[in-house]
Amino acid sequence: MPIRTLSRAMLLLASSLLIACSGGDDAEPDAQSATPYNTSLSVQELMALIIEPAADVLWDSGGWVLDSAGYEELYPTTDDGWEYVRAQSALIVETGNLLALPGRAEDNDAWMIYSEGMMEAGLRSMAAAEAQDEEEFFQAGAQLYSVCSACHQAYNPDINNRFTSD
Ligand code: HEC
Repeated sequence: MPIRTLSRAMLLLASSLLIACSGGDDAEPDAQSATPYNTSLSVQELMALIIEPAADVLWDSGGWVLDSAGYEELYPTTDDGWEYVRAQSALIVETGNLLALPGRAEDNDAWMIYSEGMMEAGLRSMAAAEAQDEEEFFQAGAQLYSVCSACHQAYNPDINNRFTSD
């Protein structure tokens, strides 16, 4: 069936858009910081309980599907609907910070670049939701997916296999 959803676009992007990761960026969080962050949630919990649910809302809200039931737009159709996806986008921005916290970040190099990539894609998605710009919102979701899969490719390639087999 003809389909244009973010999840479909993602599979195409995943292979072509692995973010070039040259390292050596200037992200150098102070690992010695005395700030009492509570990082008892593992990266796995952060992914499963916060990041994936938020990202799924975004990916399920972009694109269209054409099947036996007809043509269906997935984009929000009301101000409240757009406000909701804007809020989920904000969560994505902040989870970029959560991933970069000392005690959670796996290194000061590529990990930080991917965490920043989450923030950038989330900010782009927020702006698109605010403007109710469907195409830009779709592209932001695709950019987000490329960040997720690039980081998984680098740190836990099994995750990508799980994604593509569902
Ligand atoms: C900075 C790197 C990084 C980014 C960015 C990232 N992930 Fe992950 N993700 C990981 C790592 C590492 C694991 C493996 C965690 C573990 O099992 O210890 C993981 C695991 C997962 C899992 C499996 C959780 C489970 O229950 O085992 C899901 C689902 C997931 N990520 C979704 C996402 C989504 C969706 C995005 C983007 C919106 C994303 N991740 C972005 C590093 C990242």
